[in-house]
Amino acid sequence: MSSGCHARRLVTIATLSLLALGHIAGAQCANALAPSYEAPVVGDGYSAQLIVAGLSKPRSIIFDTNGALLVVESGRGVTHLDLSDGGGTCLAAKKTTVLINNSNLTHGIELSQDGKTLYASSANEVFSWTYDPAAVSVSNQRTLIQNMTNADHVTRTLLLSKKQPDILLVSRGSGSNIDDLATQQSSGISQIRAFNLTELAPGQIYDFPSNGKLLGWGLRNSVGVAEEPTTGGIYSVENSADQVHRLGTDIHEDNPGEEMNFHGALDGSISADSQGGNYGYPDCFALWSTSGVPSLGGLKVGSQFSLDNSGPINDSVCNSEYVAPRLTFQAHTAPLDIKFTPNGTLAYITFHGSWNRDTPAGYKLSAIPFSNGAPTAPPDSTTAAVDVLSNADLTACPGRCFRPAGLAIDAQGRVYMTSDSTGEIYVLQQTAVGTGTSY
Ligand SMILES: *[C@@H]1O[C@H](CO)[C@@H](O)[C@H](O)[C@H]1NC(C)=O
Ligand SMILES: *[C@@H]1O[C@H](CO)[C@@H](O)[C@H](O)[C@H]1NC(C)=O
Ligand SMILES: *[C@@H]1O[C@H](CO)[C@@H](O)[C@H](O)[C@H]1NC(C)=O
Ligand SMILES: *[C@@H]1O[C@H](CO)[C@@H](O)[C@H](O)[C@H]1NC(C)=O
Ligand SMILES: *[C@@H]1O[C@H](CO)[C@@H](O)[C@H](O)[C@H]1NC(C)=O
Ligand SMILES: *[C@@H]1O[C@H](CO)[C@@H](O)[C@H](O)[C@H]1NC(C)=O
Repeated sequence: MSSGCHARRLVTIATLSLLALGHIAGAQCANALAPSYEAPVVGDGYSAQLIVAGLSKPRSIIFDTNGALLVVESGRGVTHLDLSDGGGTCLAAKKTTVLINNSNLTHGIELSQDGKTLYASSANEVFSWTYDPAAVSVSNQRTLIQNMTNADHVTRTLLLSKKQPDILLVSRGSGSNIDDLATQQSSGISQIRAFNLTELAPGQIYDFPSNGKLLGWGLRNSVGVAEEPTTGGIYSVENSADQVHRLGTDIHEDNPGEEMNFHGALDGSISADSQGGNYGYPDCFALWSTSGVPSLGGLKVGSQFSLDNSGPINDSVCNSEYVAPRLTFQAHTAPLDIKFTPNGTLAYITFHGSWNRDTPAGYKLSAIPFSNGAPTAPPDSTTAAVDVLSNADLTACPGRCFRPAGLAIDAQGRVYMTSDSTGEIYVLQQTAVGTGTSY
């Protein structure tokens, strides 16, 4: 999963000018920040710059209609960042304002299409506010959805559909590594549900487990959810299980794979079959590495497997009765966000990085080429993810590394990425369209 041979180190603006990479707006990037750890490696065809530091666990981010960046600082609330824009990747935080002071907010954020209603989530609830981007203020806090509390996984990712603007998707993960409650649809555990906000009467609150439309279940912890802009297809990225053994053999180092799952379009125009389907967890997992896997049979990368291949849910049932991932990624890389470019030719994915692996993996931003609403790589690909920004020395992770979390793309196509562990935001700009495995 590496394009390291095409990569170069993050360098200062001055050096970038020497390299004649062009698209950087001159050498006057007075506020350029440098990370306290080894400079990240920037993928071929991109330039990158660290632009914000000193945040507390920044997770999801979104631009408002005035071009300010709204940041969920997990355990603090929502922060409003006014950016000064010197062009290219030369940006800096001009003014920082606490917009919502609420220590319960964990991760999710959304804005209505008119930019006047803000949504954010705690482990238990989804809230909305009336938002005034000029005054930088919120009012009228309202609870829209509740009853989502569980242990372990507390992000409640929010996605407002652009195709069906009254539909809010909410993703809820499991309460433990292997959570048997996920086998009961009524638990609401490990599900993505779609809620029609127009149908919610004043004063009414949706109950997560029993209201809304089930988009998928058996999804261990699908933190990233996105709508492909050309077709409206919904994709999610799933953090799969730790410490997994199969038939008594420890296979956890490279299995199971993290998953990209497909949920069809909200208007039912594509793939109505898998929509609302069970994606396997906690009975079936996706294979990343075939190496050292006992009783491999015909399993290949992306095949669903059971942990003991016996009993009612064996490998063949996993593959015939449960929805298989559209793509599989290196185990434990922890995908947290997915965002499409406006014409749908790339999906950016943040890989927060592993803990349950001897050699750290992930800790990078990658891009997945898409065409006609689907990844160009086949489901058994191991090379679908192309590195865009990665840590120079994975053995230094997680201690002296950035950890990608949330993503946003601005009107110029520049990509913004939070790193929660370091309290930072990077910006990336595509400077060239490469060839071969890059773009
Ligand atoms: C946030 O709220 C807490 C508790 O109500 C309060 O102690 C703190 O000063 C507030 N912080 C800001 C920045 O307003
Ligand atoms: C956070 O959640 C707790 C528990 O539900 C609640 O008592 C508290 O008021 C909430 N804090 C805010 C700022 O809403
Ligand atoms: C909350 O969800 C659980 C299922 O997880 C359900 O049993 C319970 O009735 C719900 N509580 C409320 C207040 O709706
Ligand atoms: C949401 O609910 C409203 C009111 O019932 C309805 O008109 C609209 O069609 C619904 N949206 C979708 C996408 O089903
Ligand atoms: C897998 O389980 C199904 C359902 O219990 C059973 O019909 C089938 O024979 C099993 N396959 C194998 C290879 O054991
Ligand atoms: C999609 O957008 C990118 C970036 O603007 C551009 O380079 C590419 O040519 C576009 N591709 C298509 C198929 O429109």
